[in-house]
Amino acid sequence: MISKATIIRSLPYVLKTIDIPGLGKKYQGKVRDFYIKNGKRILITTDRQSAFDVILGHIPFKGAVLNLLSAFWFEETKDIVPNHMISVPDPNVMITRDCTPIPVEMIVRGYISGVTKTSIWYSYERGEQLIYGIPFPDGLKKNQKLPNPVITPTTHPLAGSTVHDERLTREQIIKQKIVPKKLYEQMERAALALFARGTRICERRGLILVDTKYEFGMYKGKLTLIDEIHTPDSSRFWTKESYDRIFHTDEKGEAPNQRSSDARTQTSGGGKFGSGEPDNFDKEFLRLWYAQRGYRGEGSPPKMPTELVIALARRYIAVYEKITGRKFRAFSYPINQRIIQALTT
Ligand SMILES: Nc1ncnc2c1ncn2[C@@H]1O[C@H](COP(=O)(O)OP(=O)(O)OP(=O)(O)O)[C@@H](O)[C@H]1O
Ligand SMILES: [Mg+2]
Repeated sequence: MISKATIIRSLPYVLKTIDIPGLGKKYQGKVRDFYIKNGKRILITTDRQSAFDVILGHIPFKGAVLNLLSAFWFEETKDIVPNHMISVPDPNVMITRDCTPIPVEMIVRGYISGVTKTSIWYSYERGEQLIYGIPFPDGLKKNQKLPNPVITPTTHPLAGSTVHDERLTREQIIKQKIVPKKLYEQMERAALALFARGTRICERRGLILVDTKYEFGMYKGKLTLIDEIHTPDSSRFWTKESYDRIFHTDEKGEAPNQRSSDARTQTSGGGKFGSGEPDNFDKEFLRLWYAQRGYRGEGSPPKMPTELVIALARRYIAVYEKITGRKFRAFSYPINQRIIQALTT
């Protein structure tokens, strides 16, 4: 793991955005800047940190971690479904096939959890048992493993639109022909197979893939996985060890029962940011920090203290190293010139 001093030194130079001469018009998502040229989408993952659909700050090395982690997963899953990756000419850059995005995001959940209003726990806790058109059994506990992973699709607003993601059901998608039935079924199969692969690889590293989001597009008539995959921005991860401490798990690792809430608080290990939640390696850490200060996306967000920025950088790097089994190689900031060189020579 790179030192705290390296992270502190990098703070003033984080990649906020980049202008690359000769590539034409620049487009921006919340986290990525991109250029479209000759049927290719050049994705530059910046250090922008978003949550609640707002940019809250910038985290050193985050862009590289996300990009390299996606590259790892695209490689590990390309036998399941073709993906958009062509090459990675720089730690922060991926050259991809520019696809026609499918306007439905596939969210796959292996556990019932979450703090946001779109999480299934939020609805279930309020007595709903038919969520996203999916029936859930009685008596589930927060963070319990589901008998089988479920897909909760949402609309994917086109870039630049201010409409927030809306819940859908598979019946709506098919009936309203948002996606043709055959194609949607193909997306379902791909999403579940990707989730199973992700779960298996994470498990070997002592991590639980809790839930994740997949985006698909069409390329030359073929279903193609796009955007990012199994990163801390698109997914939530728990450490298996902390999960097992919170839940009694039987020999097969199935059907956990919760201990008393006392034991839960004592053994949560969530440190100062958690409370009875499994240790997580994802944006939930940040969401919880803001939620504890009464911020859930409306009004102006509290400023991220430097200590939190450093903690986040370390988490991003840690999860990269855990999942890939590779050491994250730090580089020195600023990196704008390095990226420009990689893309223009
Ligand atoms: N290969 C691809 N072809 C077409 N579009 C893509 C491809 N890969 C990613 N995208 C789109 O490019 C954008 C990348 O930017 P970024 O990830 O910052 O967006 P975002 O603000 O997170 O929004 P989103 O919710 O759409 O991901 C996204 O809109 C994503 O859907
Ligand atoms: Mg995105």
